[in-house]
Amino acid sequence: MDKKLSDLGKATLIGLNGSEKSIPSRFLYDQIGDALFQEIMALPEYYLTRTEFDLLTENAASILSFVDANKSLQLIELGAGDGIKTKILLRKLIEMKIEVEYLPIDISGNALDSLKNSVLQEFPGLKIFPQQAEYFEALEILKVKADKQKLVLFLGSNIGNMTLEEMQIFLKQINQNLNKGEYVLIGFDLVKAPETILAAYNDKAGVTKEFNLNLLRRMNRELGANFDLDKWKHAPIFDEKQQAALSFLESTVQQTIHFEELSFNVEFKAAEKINTERSQKFTESQIRAYAQLAGFEEVMNFKSLDFEYVCALWKV
Ligand code: AVI
Repeated sequence: MDKKLSDLGKATLIGLNGSEKSIPSRFLYDQIGDALFQEIMALPEYYLTRTEFDLLTENAASILSFVDANKSLQLIELGAGDGIKTKILLRKLIEMKIEVEYLPIDISGNALDSLKNSVLQEFPGLKIFPQQAEYFEALEILKVKADKQKLVLFLGSNIGNMTLEEMQIFLKQINQNLNKGEYVLIGFDLVKAPETILAAYNDKAGVTKEFNLNLLRRMNRELGANFDLDKWKHAPIFDEKQQAALSFLESTVQQTIHFEELSFNVEFKAAEKINTERSQKFTESQIRAYAQLAGFEEVMNFKSLDFEYVCALWKV
């Protein structure tokens, strides 16, 4: 086979080859996946976005009281998405007359284009420098030494989609690439009643189901696969031991899937699953331990009491 493989093609060959099948969750976000995730964020069961939005609205002034008002600020956002929550901080910074540059970083070029338009519509003339990159590539941007101070935002509980190992490496690298005295603000979803968590990943309207099944549609489209969506179901669980919501696509029958573009066949037994996502939930003591391990000083946890979510402000 001399065709150049796409990232999804490579991930499929690796992820569906063994007995524990999985595809990295970043492949859920094609154009359709991006739109479905926008819908997920507005669902009644998906408490995360709403809770973080309220937390930032209530605490924007306290969060920003830690930055040096006499220096201009670089607001660097990892996995920026639609930027709705960041606009709360931008509004406050402008009100506080702190000079700001906004550097949103996302893997989706589409999301960045619409983000730039909507930010400039609300804040004409704002310095905005979008960058299309993956999280680990984005670390380079933090290295740039400038006389501006940096505040890195990693919101939306995006950190929960990493493995615990990736997360530790990533946090350490953020710490090493920033200068002393600079800040990060990270959204962590806390451990809570399993039913509340599971409902967030298994909504009644079936949007999360569509979001998950879209990965199979994407493989049909991009890899010439022959998934029949009627033979697959969305099967999320809450894993008590790992304290993580895990999403699976479950084969309802024994079947063989052919990937034309990969010249590859995969056998699935009835009830065999493909893991498509993990969403880690945290305790406050774990958050403290991760801050320390990565070399950060904990400044403050902005915590929602109703839905048990934390925006943690850490300092290098
Ligand atoms: C983007 N990420 C933080 C979401 C989460 O909660 O893990 C993705 C998601 N998947 C299903 N619903 C939401």
